[in-house]
This record gives sequence, structure tokens and C-alpha cells, in this order.
Amino acid sequence: MLNFLVNQATCTKCGDCVTDCPARIITMRKGAPPVISLENETNCYKCQHCLSICPTASISILGYDPKNSLPLTGNLPDSTQMELLIKGRRAVRQYKPENLDPKVMKQLLDVACYAPTGRNSRQVRFTVVNDREKLIVIRDEIMKKLVRISNEEGFPAGMEFFSSFVRQWETDKTDFIFRGAPHFIVVSAPQEIPTPVEDCLIALTTFEFHAQTLGVGTVWDGLAKYVITDLLPEFKIRLGIPEEHLIGYAMAFGIPAVHYSRTTQHEPAGVHIVE
Ligand SMILES: Cc1cc2nc3c(=O)[nH]c(=O)nc-3n(C[C@H](O)[C@H](O)[C@H](O)COP(=O)(O)O)c2cc1C
Repeated sequence: MLNFLVNQATCTKCGDCVTDCPARIITMRKGAPPVISLENETNCYKCQHCLSICPTASISILGYDPKNSLPLTGNLPDSTQMELLIKGRRAVRQYKPENLDPKVMKQLLDVACYAPTGRNSRQVRFTVVNDREKLIVIRDEIMKKLVRISNEEGFPAGMEFFSSFVRQWETDKTDFIFRGAPHFIVVSAPQEIPTPVEDCLIALTTFEFHAQTLGVGTVWDGLAKYVITDLLPEFKIRLGIPEEHLIGYAMAFGIPAVHYSRTTQHEPAGVHIVE
């Protein structure tokens, strides 16, 4: 049941909801308010474009009251701010030894789930280590196992580079897996949804950009992903990631103990304009 409700007193019958509905399931007879017929309900993407586009906040769907949405007029970041955010983002590998304010953590997770997903499936799961001490315990468990692999059978082909990291760990406890961050996040999704990997990567990218605006540093964590997916798959269970989930990617994060004064400079993008 979609619970598609139209406030007849405020609906201007402009038809914007009809035109913008990606599933084309909203109809409007002349002079009548928009409706979704019962037989069309199953085709709804649940994207809420109807609720979002209505200029008079007259549409409610799935139990959502348009009054609880954020207004979009005149309050988006401008392009200069966005450019700086994109160009100024750095992989942070130095962190303060402290947990994030739980409110900031919640804000990050609450917003990241607004990232788009293929066919609006919204099945991305965010597995989070929200406490520095917990991550240290997990890191030590991982390192103990990596040291054993390094000393006994060795790392599999293509992952021999782990040996030098392990040696470094044995020498001075350099945390190459989490880069000393207090927190860690893994995004995963059921394999059978239309675009599991894409959904996860977009969610984590969204998380990263938002994190910057809250003073939170991040580093994409390919090494941790290798550990969880290839070297020590038991950590998928240890972290509570559902077995049937595909692991999208991982990221370490926390309050940076480093400040970057300027953007880097990249060569121009490889662009091909089609004739
Ligand atoms: C998919 C991906 C995986 C990465 N994995 C790691 C990693 O395991 N450890 C690490 O320190 N940095 C990792 N990075 C960070 C990159 O090395 C970094 O983004 C790159 O050197 C550019 O630096 P910048 O992000 O500061 O611009 C990863 C980045 C990406 C996009």
C-alpha cells in the first residue's frame, strides 16, 4: 500500500508529479487531483519524486509528510564551495586518538543513505566500528593472523606486498590497515540487487564528502577490503556483515591530526568529445 495522499485543498493540479514520475504511474483526469490506481501501485519505484516535486507540499506517499522534508530553494552549496570540497579532499592517514562525537557519527550515517541506488533498491548496509578501542582489538586480531600468514605460507600471488607492511608492523607497530583511524566502515549489499557494487561505492563517496564538511577525515581502505574479502574472510562474519552480502568497499575515518593548506593539482581529465 503506497498511501498516496493528495491534499485537495492545496493541490493546484499542475501535473508536475504526473510528468516527473519515472514509473509513469500517476494519472490525473481533467479537473481532478492526481491518483495512483491500485493496479499501478506495484510499479512504484518508491523514489518520492512526487512528494519532492510538488510545489505546494500537497503530496504524501508511503506515510511521509512533505512538511518533514528539507526545503531546496536557495540553500544549496554553490559551485565554488563544491569545487573546493572535491579538490580539497585528501586521503587522511594521521588521526587524533579519539572517537567522533556520536551525534556526528549518526549524522554521517543518516545522510549517506540518501545516496542514489540502482532502481532505488536502498539495500546498502553500513557496518561501522564506532569505537577506537574496539577497532584496536580488531586490528590486533587481524595483524596476528597476517603475521602468521607472512611467517608460514606467505601471501597469495598478487598480495605479496602485504609482507613489507607486516614487517613494518613488527618493527614499529605501524597500522597500515586502518592508518591509525579510530573508526572503520564497510559498505555491503545483497548480491542479487540490480547494482550492489555501484550502490556501495556511491554511498561511500557520499559519506566521504559529507565527512569533510563535518571536519572528519577519511581514507579509502583497499587493504582492509583485501583482508576481509580475500586473506581473512572470517572477518566478514566477525564484523557482522551478512554472508550473502557483496562487500562494496571499506573506509577508515576519524578526526584528522593533519591539516592540508592547499589543493593538489591534477593534469587535465582525459576527455573525448563525441562528434
Ligand atoms: C579504491 C581506493 C582504495 C584505496 N586504498 C587505500 C589503502 O588501502 N590505504 C591507504 O592508505 N590509502 C588508500 N587509498 C587512498 C589513495 O592512495 C589516495 O586516494 C591517492 O593516493 C590520492 O590521494 P588523495 O586521496 O589524498 O587525493 C585508496 C584510494 C582508493 C580510491
